[in-house]
Amino acid sequence: MKAHQITDSVYAIHADIHTDARFEGIWPIPNGVTLNSYVVKGEKTALIDLAKDWAGSIGQFDQQLASAGTSFEEIDYLVLNHLEPDHTAFLIELRRRNPKAQIVSTPKGIALVKNFFKITDNLREVKTGDTLDLGKDTVLEFFETPNIHWPETMMTFDRKNGILFSCDGFGSYGALGERIFDDEFTAEEHAFFEHESLRYYANIVASFSSFVNKALDKLGALPVKVIAPSHGIIWRKNPAEIVSRYAKYAGYNTGTAPCEKEICVVWGSMYGYTRAGLEAVLDGIRAEGVPFTIHQVPDTDASFVLADAYKAAGLVLAMPTYEYKMFPPMAHILDLFERKHFTGKKVLRLGSWGWVGGAKKEYEERIASFKWTSVESVEWQGVPSQADLSLLTERGRELARLIKEN
Ligand code: FEO
Repeated sequence: MKAHQITDSVYAIHADIHTDARFEGIWPIPNGVTLNSYVVKGEKTALIDLAKDWAGSIGQFDQQLASAGTSFEEIDYLVLNHLEPDHTAFLIELRRRNPKAQIVSTPKGIALVKNFFKITDNLREVKTGDTLDLGKDTVLEFFETPNIHWPETMMTFDRKNGILFSCDGFGSYGALGERIFDDEFTAEEHAFFEHESLRYYANIVASFSSFVNKALDKLGALPVKVIAPSHGIIWRKNPAEIVSRYAKYAGYNTGTAPCEKEICVVWGSMYGYTRAGLEAVLDGIRAEGVPFTIHQVPDTDASFVLADAYKAAGLVLAMPTYEYKMFPPMAHILDLFERKHFTGKKVLRLGSWGWVGGAKKEYEERIASFKWTSVESVEWQGVPSQADLSLLTERGRELARLIKEN
């Protein structure tokens, strides 16, 4: 397997990871994920970010370095934009094979190198504006971009070639195959990767949207020609596309961009009574012509629920009472909404109870800090009556009208 050449002196080392293991141990990746590292050659050679040894990727890494005319043993600098193990798992191996390669990262990154890997020598701390001269007019410039996606992160800019090595930033789920550049994919394939980038963002970046906004401001003046993330497509034809996509995503929960005029319906039902009430709500939404996505929990993994819920202006949360409280899978979803700062939504909650209620009370306590606009919720005992169904349809219409008017 060969490295992909980006310019005369820059190569992408690319691995597609297909695994049943979850990303971060939480998020399923049925479509795989890519790990991109980069070689930049001047008189000296820098390797930017590493990879995780999933599915034999270290063997592919060696082969691709060779095809780029280098090897672990010939690297002069290892630039670590981020210390999460999906980008550092080969670090011990590299240091064993090449102790002279200097490791370059932010002060917090260097502290993690010492802590995670017990490597204490030949380290260089860099801050925003610091540079690394590789010779032959090739200079790497560093920009601290904290919390994209953990506190130590930075991005690296190759001024000669206009390439921004952004690590997790501007990344996506989804294995790419042999094609890795944006101009090599069809519109249909881009639509697929757009949803995978949204899911990636909602799962692992959304908590840090205010930091994404700051990074976009900080990087906005750079003459970027290529965006080269460590997960997903390399954008050489239209880098503005992924930048505007990230600006939109960051705006969904910070208010700098509007959510989409659609509703995400999340529901769970024990014996079908809550589901029966939900059908009446959906009739109301359909009558108003507002598009919606729908996910049953726990059947649908939270990763996919988060993606659709994150972008939607409206939510319907349908759950029965369970043991005097919310249906536990919905409580988990609400916990994630809180962690990911899903603010500013317009929401309708509904559900049945059998013996005694309790979901409503717990729900209202739970969302008190969410900054949501709530349509008055509807609860009923057991099977919904015709009056309940009529009310539920009207509440569905009310929510849909709020979304349309917004
Ligand atoms: Fe791709 Fe935050 O690691």
